[in-house]
Amino acid sequence: MGIAITNIGELVTNEPGLGEGPLGLLRDAALILDGGAVAWAGPSVAAPAADEAYDARGRAVLPGFVDSHAHLVFAGERAEEFAARMSGRPYAAGGIRTTVARTRAATDDELRANLRRLVAEMARQGTTTVECKSGYGLSVEQEERAVRIAAEVADEVTFLGAHVVPSEYAGDAAGYVRLVTTDMLAACAPHARWIDVFCEEGAFDASQTREILAAGIGAGLTPRLHANQLRAGPGVRLAVEMGAASADHCTFLTDADVDALANSETVATLLPGVEFSTRQPYPDARRLIDAGATVALATDCNPGSCYSSSMAFCVAVAVRDMRMTPAEAVWSATAGGARALRRTDVGRLGPGARADVLVLDAPSHVHLAYRPGVPQVAAVWKGGVAQG
Ligand code: NIG
Ligand code: FE
Repeated sequence: MGIAITNIGELVTNEPGLGEGPLGLLRDAALILDGGAVAWAGPSVAAPAADEAYDARGRAVLPGFVDSHAHLVFAGERAEEFAARMSGRPYAAGGIRTTVARTRAATDDELRANLRRLVAEMARQGTTTVECKSGYGLSVEQEERAVRIAAEVADEVTFLGAHVVPSEYAGDAAGYVRLVTTDMLAACAPHARWIDVFCEEGAFDASQTREILAAGIGAGLTPRLHANQLRAGPGVRLAVEMGAASADHCTFLTDADVDALANSETVATLLPGVEFSTRQPYPDARRLIDAGATVALATDCNPGSCYSSSMAFCVAVAVRDMRMTPAEAVWSATAGGARALRRTDVGRLGPGARADVLVLDAPSHVHLAYRPGVPQVAAVWKGGVAQG
């Protein structure tokens, strides 16, 4: 049978039934991978035999990270905009249009190569599930191309035609919403599972967001939402009301927003790399967790608001500045991401899960936050296939 990962100092299963606490921690453990799935997880002494062995030499083993929010179909970069922000200019959604122009001018192969480069960069850092949004095309042909290319590479694809109103529709937001909800949706829905809207002043308001999400639901997609990123607003409550799998950003929350999330199945996906890269205040994860909301952590990797693909960096910032414990942050970056994507096969390492395994060059998951910025990935398997 398959491959045995032996001599695991600390195994994070995220299955409370298998081990200690919410992370389902096992010590002196082994893991058997077979046919792309986890066949067995438990104490070393009880491990069944396997064809091949990998000696983890006492290190920590985790489920691969689940990055449930990224924008990876784009061309160009915006380093100058970042530098300007670091000398005081605020982040503005208008920068999205710079990337739209670069993306529209790129060939399919250029977009595909950039996407593959980023997904490979993520895999090297332990990310084994990637969600990828469109949103830098903003025409029927360009958005269709973005979701089609995303579907070749990413695990989960999200149609984000409603990212901003493109310049050719300036002054006619209603016309653009009409396009998104009709021809664009029809062209994109076959390639996507999710529909997303940037619900924010300067992007789409509550009634436009509701209309776009409802059309997406009608086309068989499930909503997720960019909500409350730049200021408090209707986004989070709308996400809950529309049954969204996730409300993402959640940077500025009222008590009513926190209550709504706590009393719903909608996951609060926090994106600490964005606050880092835009000098915004960090969201308070503790407030959400204490209220009973489910929290996921993701990168939001994109050329504007956060050009980092590192989930380990998100974990470190969430622990240092968002009042999460290391265990909570690791859970949110794995099992939390899986919840946000409504996936039961990833973000955990129990029997039947996809064999997505991250071996850390460290004795425990705490080292992810304890040693920020230090490369600590020793080995990664995705679906049982060794990466890198
Ligand atoms: O999630 N806020 C909307 N969209 C992206 C940023 C896109 C960009 O600046 O290019 C985000 O932060
Ligand atoms: Fe985003």
